[in-house]
Amino acid sequence: MPRPPVERVLIPEPRLRERVEELAREIEAEYRGGELVLISVLKGSVLFLCDLMKHLDLDVEIGFLYLSSYRGQTSPQSDIQEYLLPFPRIEGRHVLLVEDILDTGASLKYALDKCAALSPRSLKTCVLLVKPKENRPDIPVDFCGFRIPDEFVVGYGLDYREKYRQLPCIAVPKIEE
Ligand code: IMP
Ligand code: MG
Repeated sequence: MPRPPVERVLIPEPRLRERVEELAREIEAEYRGGELVLISVLKGSVLFLCDLMKHLDLDVEIGFLYLSSYRGQTSPQSDIQEYLLPFPRIEGRHVLLVEDILDTGASLKYALDKCAALSPRSLKTCVLLVKPKENRPDIPVDFCGFRIPDEFVVGYGLDYREKYRQLPCIAVPKIEE
């Protein structure tokens, strides 16, 4: 497996596994035996979505929203680009947005606005990693995996220039520009 030069591991694989299972229990308690549409924000949330849904004892449908904001940089750009994909019918249904990380909040805000316009019965968010940001607009995170320091991280779906998504842990890479 290609390994990035890792500065340090922030969240090791067993801790990720344990927390994702706990999140599944929290989500089950919220939707109790009902039906849920999981909307995964591509590409960063794919590993998280797969692990989370394996542990959900609910009827789930999955859908994808393909957003891009980084364009290969390590600092965010506020304009969001959406690549159109087929989208599930969500009107009148419970919807949970599954996102890898909350940084500036621009991606999640875009995803929330898009879903809200389609009149779901309820709309909540599940975010694996939340970074601290002073000027971030108030975006509700209903299910939060971990609060992490404001550092650039890779692994478990998150990339640096499209690489290292397959790392099983969350790590701070050594980036030599
Ligand atoms: P936003 O700034 O909250 O809109 O985050 C935009 C997107 O940037 C996230 O969904 C991630 O895909 C990506 N991103 C934000 N922070 C990081 C990071 O530390 N590593 C890798 N990708 C990140
Ligand atoms: Mg993302």
